Amino acid sequence: LASAYPADGDAPPADTTVVFRAVVETARVQSAKLAFVSLRQGLDNIQGVVAASDEGGISRQMVKWCGGVSPESMVLVHGGVARPKEPVKSASVQHLEIHIGKLFVISKAEVPLPLQIEDAERPLPGEGKDAADEAQEAAAGRPIVGLNTRLNNRVLDLRGKHNHAIFTIKEGVCALFTEFLRARGFVGIQTPKMMGAATEGGSNVFEVTYFERKAYMAQSPQLHKQMLVASRFERVFEIGPIFRAENSNTARHLTEFTGLDLEMAFEEDYHEVVKLIEDLMLYMFKGLRERYKKETDLVRSLYHVDEFQLPEEGKVPRIPFKEGIHMLREDGADVGDYDDLSTPDEKRLGALVLKKYHTDFYVLDQFPLGVRPFYTMPSPADPHASNSYDFFMRGQEIMSGAQRVHDARFLVRRMRAMDPPLDPDQPGLKDYVDAFRYGCPPHAGGGLGLERIVMLWLGLPNIRLACLFPRDPQRLMP
Ligand code: 4AD
Repeated sequence: LASAYPADGDAPPADTTVVFRAVVETARVQSAKLAFVSLRQGLDNIQGVVAASDEGGISRQMVKWCGGVSPESMVLVHGGVARPKEPVKSASVQHLEIHIGKLFVISKAEVPLPLQIEDAERPLPGEGKDAADEAQEAAAGRPIVGLNTRLNNRVLDLRGKHNHAIFTIKEGVCALFTEFLRARGFVGIQTPKMMGAATEGGSNVFEVTYFERKAYMAQSPQLHKQMLVASRFERVFEIGPIFRAENSNTARHLTEFTGLDLEMAFEEDYHEVVKLIEDLMLYMFKGLRERYKKETDLVRSLYHVDEFQLPEEGKVPRIPFKEGIHMLREDGADVGDYDDLSTPDEKRLGALVLKKYHTDFYVLDQFPLGVRPFYTMPSPADPHASNSYDFFMRGQEIMSGAQRVHDARFLVRRMRAMDPPLDPDQPGLKDYVDAFRYGCPPHAGGGLGLERIVMLWLGLPNIRLACLFPRDPQRLMP
């Protein structure tokens, strides 16, 4: 029961009888003796045939009833497997046919549907399409349904097979991340998401009522993951929610997203950690290619997205920030030595790196100290720089990380040197600073944005498409 396909993914041989649950995509009566029911299960569609016979079995009345089942209803099907006599025209239907013997409606879908599932299978307006597609749509008189309508009806939207693929891949990223780190001695952790103080920068934190006082939603597991390194856990990782009260209405910002965080002690140089994260990312990309090829190809083809270019084995470009600035200036960009990169400059640099190194994945190292948080280790070689790095996919940031200050006295000095200065004795921060008073190894880590990785791996035009129920400055529902 439950799958028309056995676990190995192959279609069952012809002439076997199967019992499975599926969703009716369309049902139609062809003639008094024949109805077709298109059944959906996972990424697959199966053509169901209901044929009346004069020798008993299926009646004409049943043919009529089956052809009238409302689309999106859940049904239980008993049937015999057969190869269709003629190749099936619809691209979504597999070359497999079920001769339906019994069909039970388990749960009927109300009509009319507020969103047609086929609208969830089309690219968003103006994104990833060429003029020919748009002209074709205009001629067909069928306007593309916008993202808001789709998100308002997310339960139906998520029935689309492209969405099924996107969220299968998203879970795959988490599995690959966990797999790689566990094999290297990392321990999965769970840090608090409600904080007593806005510790990581005051402006983009959500304030909530906590009994008689205020609490704050965690902006990252940063402080606690480091406190664990100062405790007994030298290698930790976390997959958890991150809340940002940023009023950024862009295609790459959410107010709640999933962070893939890691933090580890190192022996001599923070580049040990950079190397580990590079290897982690390559492992994830290769794993996605091997295990999720079908899903990846399906979504990329919808948006006409190019293959993700991986660097040659062991050769992830690790570009010093200064060199990145130099490359941008040579290309005509107007960028300051110690400014953070704007989004257009990041994309421009991504294109330059792709041209020079033939990869969509690279690292920018040694960021200016002035643009990094207080816990970042300054570079011993250059007072303007820091031992910090960002990772990029297709010219967009997917991770920021750094070596951290692990000495309490130095940390206090760094906090006081910030503009505006931070008070090391303030609630929340004091516990953090104190964590480093009893000995702590040099350590570094980083935080990856899960939705960004999925968006950029697949070339999706909007991060909301990589989130089941996205939260942004406008949207808190469903
Ligand atoms: O660059 P961010 O803010 O870094 C930190 O949170 C540090 N505590 C991490 C560290 O270990 N030093 O966020 C990390 C990543 C970004 O690179 C991006 O991929 C993602 O999280 N991200 C967002 N994703 C969706 N919506 C947003 N508003 C995001 N802000 C950051």
